Amino acid sequence: MKTVKASAPGSLFFAGEHAVVYGLPAIVTAIGKRTNVTAVQRRDSKIIIKSDAFETAETHIVGQKLVNRKFEKKELEPLLDLCEKCVKKFKLQKGFELDIKSEIMPESGMSSSTAVLCAILKALDGLHDWNIKEEDYFDFLLEFQIKIHGGKASGAELVSSSMGGFNLVQKIQKNGKNALERRNLGKKEFFVVVGNTKIRSATALAVQHVANLKQRKQKYVKECFDNIETIVEAMEKEIAKSTPIQVGKLMTENQKWLEKLGVSHPKLDECIQTALVHGALGAKLSGGGWGGVMFALVEKQTTSKVAKAINELNCNAIVTEIGVEGARIEK
Ligand code: MEV
Repeated sequence: MKTVKASAPGSLFFAGEHAVVYGLPAIVTAIGKRTNVTAVQRRDSKIIIKSDAFETAETHIVGQKLVNRKFEKKELEPLLDLCEKCVKKFKLQKGFELDIKSEIMPESGMSSSTAVLCAILKALDGLHDWNIKEEDYFDFLLEFQIKIHGGKASGAELVSSSMGGFNLVQKIQKNGKNALERRNLGKKEFFVVVGNTKIRSATALAVQHVANLKQRKQKYVKECFDNIETIVEAMEKEIAKSTPIQVGKLMTENQKWLEKLGVSHPKLDECIQTALVHGALGAKLSGGGWGGVMFALVEKQTTSKVAKAINELNCNAIVTEIGVEGARIEK
């Protein structure tokens, strides 16, 4: 049976998470940790999803709907919704099997859910020869990202994971619809060490916390967002000049505002402080916060020193590339 393998990368925010949900710019990069999806055509109408993190789901196509949905973990529900969208849009009658294996821990702040959406779409696209362009993934997938993030999502990581690279992104309205403007910041020789606190944290909860805070303390949150916006703008210029020392400083400054928004965590703070003490140029949490990962921008020669210090805190140091290729078919 026809089989297609595809993958899509996770992401890290250099600056601007949370504020990006409300239309401010953010700088986000695709990273060298990927989610892999193998799609296999079936002769019947069954759809089976096997996930290394969330077990299995099963359903079958009747008309243009997926009926008798069976799944153990709720995380597979939006993936079935995505399959149903594909069934409807491309009038599929035959089912398929999806086998998901990820190098990105779920709820770790490295955008595992976005990577899985992009990798599934790429694999199904390859299986059926739809030729969906990567720049159209945002439109196709945003509704699922919103559901996963509990009702509010910028979609920044969808652009990062589908198109890859190191990007400035900003939500805009285009013809009355949500769209994301993207400026590719080019290939940079930056070195990062990710520190996974192993504290699982659902992005949806942190996003909801910021929404509540914004309602209660509008002026306070505006001040945080305004400062984050200034940091993003300054960072874009420093990235263009390839000055990692300045970029690092701006990352650490962004972390202060994330702390003020109440989305950091004592373990993240400890890792960030440790990375800085061991010579990192800058460090911050990435993604929703309240756990998950932080990352440090380092000089090449300090990579192992910072990684060792993070591991000694009983966290997982991950050395990974940035600005990598987006969703792709694997040989
Ligand atoms: C989550 O990884 C990033 C947030 O900015 C949410 C979003 O952009 O949808 C917190």
